[in-house]
Amino acid sequence: MLIHTPPSSACREHEVTSETVYLSRRRLLAAAGGLAASVSLPGHSQAGSTYSDVEPGQLPAWFSEKLSAARWQAMTPGNESVTPFKDATHYNNFYEFGTNKGDPARYAEEMRIEPWAVRIEGEVARPGIYSVEDLAKPHGLEERIYRLRCVEAWSMVIPWLGFPLADLLRRVEPTSKAKYVSFETRLAPDEMAGVRSGFSLIDWPYVEGLRLDEAMHPLTILAVGMYGRVLPHQNGAPLRLVVPWKYGFKSIKSIVRISLVSEQPRTTWESIAPEEYGFYSNVNPEVDHPRWSQAHERRLPSGLFSPNIVPTRMFNGYDEVAGLYTGLDLRKYY
Ligand code: MTE
Repeated sequence: MLIHTPPSSACREHEVTSETVYLSRRRLLAAAGGLAASVSLPGHSQAGSTYSDVEPGQLPAWFSEKLSAARWQAMTPGNESVTPFKDATHYNNFYEFGTNKGDPARYAEEMRIEPWAVRIEGEVARPGIYSVEDLAKPHGLEERIYRLRCVEAWSMVIPWLGFPLADLLRRVEPTSKAKYVSFETRLAPDEMAGVRSGFSLIDWPYVEGLRLDEAMHPLTILAVGMYGRVLPHQNGAPLRLVVPWKYGFKSIKSIVRISLVSEQPRTTWESIAPEEYGFYSNVNPEVDHPRWSQAHERRLPSGLFSPNIVPTRMFNGYDEVAGLYTGLDLRKYY
């Protein structure tokens, strides 16, 4: 017998029936044009974004094709609003382009993203070098509206467009020796103001990693778009990881290498300050950063004089991942 248990982060009935949320989403979509009142949620215009405050930008042909068949998420998590596009694209961490929050929007355009090759290697039956298009093509695009909680205690709600990492990993067939997945960002000093400046503790390239079961979890996605359009450069174009129950730094941007490995990989922030940033880095309001509390977060946009402070939730509210950590001391493995 198949018993369908909805994941605990999914909208509960009392949340989804909130008419105001439903109507505001409808209005958002309708405001973007191209959504007739009779069209059921979700809808989008062929030209690109469904979000009223978003410039669709240039959409590659393969992306447009996928967009017309994409699965859209009708609701935000809980009753939370989607962060305005302007905030999501002008308050960024992408140290390759500088350490100020506005630097990625200012400088990331300098990064060439075409052509873009991703090497898949290590403990896989089908290693290879793939273009983003070839990586994404066999998979349907899905919208996933996720909370993004940065270790610095700010957060946003972002509508990503992507596909489950698990689907890609199944395609390349990990061997029985594969226990972890490591990821690497492109390194091109000529195109990266932050790398060129030398004003950073990071030993480039930026690297991240997951346990294989975390990588295979259905919530883990590779994003190629957000807000119904392609990823802006500053958000990790053309391909980034999104792991919504972990601090944002695990969600590595502009990926050029995915390696299946047998040992726990080196990761950038853990290498810099292991007592502050662990390999796991699951969002956890009970384990403070040595220099600040993790009990609350500033949900952006947030005014200086009336900050929008919300309590942080275990696993960022994605309780369905708890089973991945049964028996693991999350204070020790932070
Ligand atoms: N990936 C790379 N390559 N370089 C970075 O500096 N910053 C991380 C993560 N991915 C980072 C990165 C951090 S600290 C966060 S919080 C998120 O990206 C921010 O993603 P956003 O700018 O799209 O909100």
